[in-house]
Amino acid sequence: SQNNSKVRAHTNIALVKYWGKENEALKIPTTSSLSLTLDKFYTDTEVTFKNELAADQIIFNGEAVKGNKAKRITNFLNIVREMAGKNIFAEVKTSNNVPTAAGLASSASGFAALAGAASKAIGLKLNKKELSRLARRGSGSATRSIYGGFVEWQKGFGDQTSIGVPFIEKVDWNIHIVAILVNKSEKEMTSTQGMKISKDTSPYYVEWKKLCKRDLKNIKIAIKAHDFSRMGKIAEENAMRMHALTLSADPDFTYFDADSLKVMKLVHNLRQRGIECYFTMDAGPNVKILVEDHNLVSLKQELKKDFDEDKIIVASPGPGIKYLK
Ligand code: DP6
Repeated sequence: SQNNSKVRAHTNIALVKYWGKENEALKIPTTSSLSLTLDKFYTDTEVTFKNELAADQIIFNGEAVKGNKAKRITNFLNIVREMAGKNIFAEVKTSNNVPTAAGLASSASGFAALAGAASKAIGLKLNKKELSRLARRGSGSATRSIYGGFVEWQKGFGDQTSIGVPFIEKVDWNIHIVAILVNKSEKEMTSTQGMKISKDTSPYYVEWKKLCKRDLKNIKIAIKAHDFSRMGKIAEENAMRMHALTLSADPDFTYFDADSLKVMKLVHNLRQRGIECYFTMDAGPNVKILVEDHNLVSLKQELKKDFDEDKIIVASPGPGIKYLK
C-alpha cells in the first residue's frame, strides 16, 4: 500500500576492511573496502509513514526501541524526510536474522534494509546507486549490502561518489563463510568508536591505508581468478592488520577473546594439515572462516570437537536487497 514498504537486506563480511572515516558526519571512509554479501544473515524492515504519529516508532524483534539505538534510526529517517521534503513520522518494524552487535555486521543489513524501505515508503524512487549512498549515512558497511556477491565500496571523492559498486554479483564459485558464534553479548566498543580511536591514535594508521590499497587491488585479481589461497591470505592479513590498529591505539583495546584466538590457532593448524581455510574477524569476538566447498565437511568436523554444533553457521554468497512489499 501507499506509505509502506518492506525490504530484506543481507549482511556482508568485509575481506578488505573499512576501519576509519575521513568525514564522520557523511561516513566517508579513509579507504575503499571489499566484501562478500552472505545468504544466511539478513534483516527484514517494514516502514510505514503515518500522519497520526507524533514521533518515529521503532520496534525491533517485537520490542520498542528507545535511547541511542532509536536516535540513530530517527537521525537516518531525518535524512530520508529531508530528501523527500516531507515532515511525517514512521513506524519501523525490524526483525533480525543476525546476532545483534556480535560482530556479524547487523548494522550493514539493518541500514541497507531501512534505506530501501524508508525511501520507497516516503515516495522517493531511488536507484541502487542512490540507495547505496543513502545506506552509507546509516552505517558505512551498509553501503555494500545493497548488492549481492562481492562488492566494492569505493571511497570516492565525497558524498556523491562514495558508494558501493558490484564487483561480482553472481558468484560462480563454491565458497563458504563459516561463522563461529563464540559470544553473543553486545560489543563494548562499537565499530564507530573503535575506528575513530584507531584512526586518531594508532601509529600504524598511515601504513594501514597504504596496505589497504594494495590489498584491494590484489584481492580483486585473486577473486577474478578464483584463486582461493591468494584471496584468503589477503583477507586474513588485512583483518589482522585492522586488529593491530586496535591493539596499538591509545587507549588500547581489542575485539579478541580467548575463543577467537582458539579459532585462529585451529585455522592455522588446519592449513598445515592441508585443509585450506582462512579467517577474518570484525568488531566483535566471532571469527568467520573462509573455505571452499570441498573442505567444508573436514572443517566442520574439526570445529565440532571444540564448539557446539549450533554455534557453527555455514553461509554462502548471498543476494542484494529485495522488496517484500
Ligand atoms: C569491522 O559500518 O559498523 O565490520 O560506519 O560507524 O556504522 P559505522 O561502522 P560499521 O563498521 C564496520 C567495520 C567492520 C569492517 C567492514 O565491515 O568493512
